[in-house]
Amino acid sequence: MITFKIKRYNPEKQAEPYFEEFQLGETDDLTLLDCLNQIKWTLDGSLTYRMSCRSAICGSCAVKANGHAILACQKQASQLVKDNDTITLEPLGNMKPIKDLAVDFKPFWDKVDKVNPYLQSSKKPPEKETKQSPEQFKLIDDASTCIMCGACYSDCNVLEVDDNFLGPAALAKAQRFVQDSRDGETLARVKELSKPGGIWDCTHCGECVERCPKPAEPFDRIKEIMTVALEQGVTNNNGARHALSFTKSVKSSGSLNENIIPVESVGFFNVKGLFDLLPVGLRMLFKGKNPPILHKSIDDVEDVKRIYMELSE
Ligand code: SF4
Ligand code: SF4
Ligand code: FES
Repeated sequence: MITFKIKRYNPEKQAEPYFEEFQLGETDDLTLLDCLNQIKWTLDGSLTYRMSCRSAICGSCAVKANGHAILACQKQASQLVKDNDTITLEPLGNMKPIKDLAVDFKPFWDKVDKVNPYLQSSKKPPEKETKQSPEQFKLIDDASTCIMCGACYSDCNVLEVDDNFLGPAALAKAQRFVQDSRDGETLARVKELSKPGGIWDCTHCGECVERCPKPAEPFDRIKEIMTVALEQGVTNNNGARHALSFTKSVKSSGSLNENIIPVESVGFFNVKGLFDLLPVGLRMLFKGKNPPILHKSIDDVEDVKRIYMELSE
């Protein structure tokens, strides 16, 4: 017997959401989506959630199970059972619930739209198809597997505090066009994606990779856009400067020079940015947490330099 503790919400009847419990026996070999269907068909026809393909293809059935986003049709219910034979189900995060487990995907789609998710080529359209080599296709293959389920968007830590962030799914979609050999707008795309709310606002937590049910793995795609942006010389922003300063510091001393990196990240001539750093610097000083003025190299710094040399070769 499994207990399904489901967050219910129907603004037409009650302003606040609440949890309701349903019990099912005979759940062996059933997916979580099969169980939701059983509940809807036999216990409460008003239970609302999305589904379509039941094969991890359409991306409709993503929900939060025990606090993390999953595809309900891709997981066996038995794999999700926690203490007291219970599974807790909630709507996806970072989007407004509409009813029970169904959320409003508008902000998700608006952000996908923002990255111009279509080919932009200045070339005359070819008479037949534009060819792509297997190697060129491999660069966009993983991002192409995204099924727009929103699991990554739901669990992204940055989106919890910053609505302006494009989010993992839109950025994975962006990579699919940034690195598409048939696209002619790479530089314009990476310039746009380097602005606030774009690639450099990702905190590298990796949660989206954990949640993604496909090989799209957004954080890996974000890193690929960052690499293209740096290669294209789009470095006049805090994120790119931070990455370059970080790399330079490790290369020269084997560790992070915490005095220099913040200054190089905001830019030596960015007077306002440097002033903005002052309160943090002073607080660290008063709490005795400021790094030593003279930055020392680690003992094995020559090994680090060798790794950099081999990588650059
Ligand atoms: S790695 Fe970046 S995009 Fe992915 S969940 Fe974390 S902050 Fe969001
Ligand atoms: S990147 Fe993965 S988790 Fe995010 S929407 Fe696409 S398939 Fe879903
Ligand atoms: S119902 Fe289509 S992905 Fe689950």
